[in-house]
Amino acid sequence: MKRLVNCVIMALIAGVSVSLLAAADDAKPKYTIKEVMKFHKDKIHEKFQKGEASKEEKQKLLEGYEAMLKQKPPKGTEEDWKKKCEALVKAVKDDDKDAFKKAVNCGSCHGAHKGG
Ligand code: HEC
Repeated sequence: MKRLVNCVIMALIAGVSVSLLAAADDAKPKYTIKEVMKFHKDKIHEKFQKGEASKEEKQKLLEGYEAMLKQKPPKGTEEDWKKKCEALVKAVKDDDKDAFKKAVNCGSCHGAHKGG
């Protein structure tokens, strides 16, 4: 009987750790900042500006910028970073090409937030 109780306790502990791990995974952003920058290298942002991005590409941009929002930049204040990333998320959501052009300004964000 004691063995059975131990077994049940072990199973409970294992169950709890699994759900804790799952929760941690949830909090992990889908893309790193560098991965999102690859979308820029692939010129998905240019397609968006021209209105040529597919639904999947828009979704990628949106998820990428939302993931950036959850991370800290290598440099600069978190407040300014959030503002810049939120502007990107909003522009993609609203399909607002003019707002996007301003928000995706490579130099102004790199100057403020890119380390190295
Ligand atoms: C909202 C801020 C922001 C904007 C806008 C932005 N970047 Fe970046 N970019 C970053 C940050 C922060 C890094 C540094 C990431 C790191 O070191 O983890 C970076 C790094 C990069 C890198 C180097 C990636 C690597 O693997 O080291 C490239 C290439 C790049 N950006 C391209 C672009 C291009 C092209 C644009 C404009 C179309 C752009 N980025 C717009 C924030 C931005």
